[in-house]
Amino acid sequence: MSSLPHQPALPAAEAPSACSAAAPIEIPRSALPPLPDDILTNRPGGHVDLRRFFPHPQRPLEIEIGSGKGTFLAQQSPECPGTNYLGFEYEREFFMMGVDKLTRAGSTNVRMMCLDAGDFLHWRVPDACCRVLHLYFPDPWPKAKHHRRRMVSDRFLADAWRVLEQRGEVRIVTDHAEYWAWMQEHFARWSSADPAALEPAHADRSASRCFLRRAFEPPTNAKMSEGELVGTNFERKYRREGRPFNATTLVKLA
Ligand SMILES: C[S@@+](CC[C@H](N)C(=O)[O-])C[C@H]1O[C@@H](n2cnc3c(N)ncnc32)[C@H](O)[C@@H]1O
Repeated sequence: MSSLPHQPALPAAEAPSACSAAAPIEIPRSALPPLPDDILTNRPGGHVDLRRFFPHPQRPLEIEIGSGKGTFLAQQSPECPGTNYLGFEYEREFFMMGVDKLTRAGSTNVRMMCLDAGDFLHWRVPDACCRVLHLYFPDPWPKAKHHRRRMVSDRFLADAWRVLEQRGEVRIVTDHAEYWAWMQEHFARWSSADPAALEPAHADRSASRCFLRRAFEPPTNAKMSEGELVGTNFERKYRREGRPFNATTLVKLA
């Protein structure tokens, strides 16, 4: 995977976890405390410390939204054993296939949850806890009446900015031209393509320029075929169909 400049070194002594390396891949809903009654005025009261679900809680956390059958997680997690991966997939059938695949692979640095990732990010994920959000081939919801179901939205970008560490990244790939155009409209409100935006004194550092938009760099994953962007099931299927892809990386600005 492309390395981030701020990637922290592993601490010499890592804090103990509530969870052993052999813990099940699935984090059940029952592991989550209920949302507090005062959630509307006490947003942090709903947050869950996601690190405690991993045997090495101090390691950097990356989240995949819409993991499908878990192919990206299964390929990427052994490449980066010093990273914790958490995948969200709300279709139970795909989720179980992913859990099965990761269990059989003996993955110790991956967990999956079967729930709505957008709502979870909004209500449950603490600030500045995540290094990368992966969003590969999100459902395009092509009918206008379903556009509100699209993952990329102003709410999502606000939540992504909040949960990412400084210089953390949202990585996005899509095959869908009209969804891509929709994303571009949203990115224009939230990001700058000028690398100088990384400089603290840059004049374009307004509240509406929360991310730097830059070219997508594929992870270096030994199991990916040459020319692949992320090597997910949908990428492989769409590649066979000859569909073109669009991809970008949004880097969180302070
Ligand atoms: C088109 S598939 C892509 C799967 C995988 N990322 C890939 O590239 O092969 C989109 C996946 O995202 C899941 N999904 C869509 N919206 C979701 C949400 N809000 N929370 C969790 N999963 C979601 C769908 O169930 C589906 O499995």
